[in-house]
Amino acid sequence: MRTQVAIVGAGPAGLLLSHLLGLEGIDSVLLERQTAEYVQARIRAGILEAGTVELLRDVGLGARLDGEGMEHRGIHLQWPEHRHHVDFTGLIGRSVTVYGQTEVTKDLMAAREKAGRPAYYSAADVTLHDVAGSPSVTFVDDSGAARRIEADVVVGCDGFHGPSRASVPEPRVWERAYPFAWLGVLADVAPSTDELIYAWHPDGFAMHSMRSPRVSRFYLQVAPDEDIARWSDDRIWAALSERLGVPGWTLETGTITEKSVLPMRSFVTTPMRHGNLYLAGDAAHIVPPTGAKGLNLAVADVALLARALTASFRGDDRLVDAYSETALRRVWRCTHFSWWMTSMLHRHGDGFDAQLQLSQLQRTVTSTAAKTELAENYAGLPL
Ligand code: FAD
Ligand code: DHB
Repeated sequence: MRTQVAIVGAGPAGLLLSHLLGLEGIDSVLLERQTAEYVQARIRAGILEAGTVELLRDVGLGARLDGEGMEHRGIHLQWPEHRHHVDFTGLIGRSVTVYGQTEVTKDLMAAREKAGRPAYYSAADVTLHDVAGSPSVTFVDDSGAARRIEADVVVGCDGFHGPSRASVPEPRVWERAYPFAWLGVLADVAPSTDELIYAWHPDGFAMHSMRSPRVSRFYLQVAPDEDIARWSDDRIWAALSERLGVPGWTLETGTITEKSVLPMRSFVTTPMRHGNLYLAGDAAHIVPPTGAKGLNLAVADVALLARALTASFRGDDRLVDAYSETALRRVWRCTHFSWWMTSMLHRHGDGFDAQLQLSQLQRTVTSTAAKTELAENYAGLPL
C-alpha cells in the first residue's frame, strides 16, 4: 500500500494531523497500537487553549465543542485562607474551554470515519524503515497479516512510549523528573467551583477541575511511587476538602469513577525532524500537567506541520525545513511555563522554598504584569 503520509499513533496529534491533511487533499494512513475503544476512553487532559478551540472550529470540529464545552474566563489561584481569581479575559481578551481529551478524540474519530480516511487499529510490531530515504512502515494488522505502507513522509505521533523517536539518530535530549506525582480522580458530582482551582497547601498541591456540569476532576500531589491502594475514596475526599478548603466554601462529594497515579516529567528531544520523518506531540516532548499544556502543544505541532507538509507537497520546502526550529520555540515556552506552574504550586524542598512559593503566588495575583504573564501563557500564544 502507498500513501503520502504514514502517521504512527492515533492520539489527538495523529488524528488531527490526518484531518488537517485530508482537508488539503493529502492522503494519509493512521497506524495505532491500541483499539479504537481504548483510545477513545483514555482519561487525560481537559482544558483547551483559545487557539486550539479556534482551530477545531475552523476545521469543522466545533459543533459539539460549542454545545458542550464550558468557556472559562480564568482560574482561581489559592493558598491557605486565600483564593484569588485571575481573569484572563479581562487581562488579555482570551479564555480557555473545558472540553475533555476524550471528547476531542471522539470528534476526530467521527470525522475520520465520515471522510473514510484509512486507519489500522490494534496494529502490532509497527516498525519504521529508511526514514531518511524512501520511507516505509511495516506492521501486523488485527487479523495477524504482515503489511507494509510506503509513504513520502512518516510522522511519529506515537506518544512518549512509541517507536518513532528512536529513528532519529543522535538526538539531543533534555529531561527533568519531579519528586512527586499526581493522583487523578474523576467523580460523578457537580463541580463545587465555577472555574478551576489551583491550590498550594502545606500537605501538597491540589486542583479542582471539571469535565461537565455533572462530572468533576481532581488532582492531589502524592509521592512519585505512591501506592494507589492506600487512597480509599474517604481518604481522597478528606485530603481534597483539606487542601482545597477556604473559609465559607464546601467541597461537594460524590461517586469516584476512576483514580490513577500520573508520573510528572519534563522531556524534550531534538531535532523534531530527520529526513522524511517528523515528530509531533508527546513523541517529541512531555510537560508536567500543571498548566494544561500537553494536549494543546500536540495540537500546535500538528497545525504547524500540516501547513508545512501541504506547502512541501506543493513544491515549497521552506516550512518543512524550518519545522523543528519553529515548533521547538513553542515547545520550550510551554516547557518553561509548565515547569514554573509546577514549581510554584507543589510542596518540595524546605521551609525556605515554601516562603518563596508563597511570595511568588502573592505577586502573581497582585501585579498586573505578573497576572498578564500567567494569562498569556495559560490561554495560549496564538497558533
Ligand atoms: P498520545 O495521546 O499519547 O497518543 C499517542 C498514540 O500513539 C497513542 O494512541 C498510543 O497508543 C499510540 N502508540 C504508542 N506506541 C505505538 C506503537 N508502537 N504503534 C502504534 N501506535 C502507538 N495533558 C494535559 O494538558 N492535562 C492533563 O490532565 C493530562 N493528563 C494526562 C494523563 C496521562 C495519564 C497522560 C499519559 C497524559 C496526560 N496529559 C495531560 C498529556 C496529554 O494527554 C498529552 O499531551 C496528549 O495526549 C498528547 O497527544 P499525542 O497524540 O501527542 O500523544
Ligand atoms: C486539567 C489538567 C491539568 O493539568 C490542568 O492544569 C488543568 C485541568 C484537567 O484534567 O481537567
